[in-house]
Amino acid sequence: MSKEHRVLTGITTTGVPHLGNLVGAVLPAIKASERKDTTSFLFLADYHSLIKSSDSELRHRSSFDIAACWLACGLDPKKVIFYRQSDIPHIFELAWILSCLASKGLLNRAHAYKAATTDNEANKTKDIDKGINMGLFNYPVLMAADILMFKADAVPVGQDQKQHIEMTRDIALKFNHHYGDILTPPEAVIDEHTGVLPGIDGRKMSKSYNNTIPVFSEEEALQKVIMKIKTNSLEPGEPKDSSDCNIFNIYKAISTNEKVDDLQKLYEEGIAWGEAKKILFGELNSFLKPFKDEYNKIIKDKPYVEKALIEGSEKALSISGPIIKEVRQAIGIKGF
Ligand code: TRP
Repeated sequence: MSKEHRVLTGITTTGVPHLGNLVGAVLPAIKASERKDTTSFLFLADYHSLIKSSDSELRHRSSFDIAACWLACGLDPKKVIFYRQSDIPHIFELAWILSCLASKGLLNRAHAYKAATTDNEANKTKDIDKGINMGLFNYPVLMAADILMFKADAVPVGQDQKQHIEMTRDIALKFNHHYGDILTPPEAVIDEHTGVLPGIDGRKMSKSYNNTIPVFSEEEALQKVIMKIKTNSLEPGEPKDSSDCNIFNIYKAISTNEKVDDLQKLYEEGIAWGEAKKILFGELNSFLKPFKDEYNKIIKDKPYVEKALIEGSEKALSISGPIIKEVRQAIGIKGF
């Protein structure tokens, strides 16, 4: 019998579900969850969202929208462990334990923190830590706790999260070195194709860049966003290079190889940008339709979503409970 794999991934709840979430995390994770030798941990990283926003209503709504998105895309709550991070207090206990092992120097090098201090430097701000909260600084530790709490061995993430998984490995190995072989150093699973889905401005599609394509918006709103996708200024009739084209790369993530080849030909023949956007819009609309229909049904049934998450948290707690016990024993926090 092959070894059981534990696959774990989460989405931060700070906005409406977008195409990057769908093709980068939700759909591949659901697909992977169908494998027999796999236990999947899929969760809402609601406490991570505190770092980025103090809007409680937005956080609450976003948690619901993202939960409904997972379910609309085919997650079967009976087959996977689907939960809110905030329902598992053991994660936060582990985060403290790990933060006492992680060296500050390691966290100084985390991309998100470095980007923030670099901005401050560029703006000649006296205090390079201006506007940076401890949550942002500790972000990789909380993420490590999310993963190590369940001894997950595979974490499907975008390229931008690779560093966090390396830090998680580092912290797990340090724990094991001090306290015995307890935590599992995970591997990042990065899909070369979808790991880099561009947003409408060409940078990685991300809530932080405000360049996302929302997946459950009305057709008109979707069309508006598609029309805003950045292109170069080549005229209709001029041959176009598909390789670094945002429209093309988004199309590739949601379409069949055959259709991609057809669009490639049209690029060589000099398709107008407006026309390429229309083709992408049509394809995206039909790609999203089944998910949208399901989503619109699910959002009318809040108790169903809540029940799925409560049942998921019970399953998650039955796994995290014994692990945190093992961790406490190992570090000498135990009864006399
Ligand atoms: N940091 C991830 C993101 O913003 C979300 C996340 C939180 C996560 N904890 C995780 C992803 C654990 C994978 C595993 O996309």
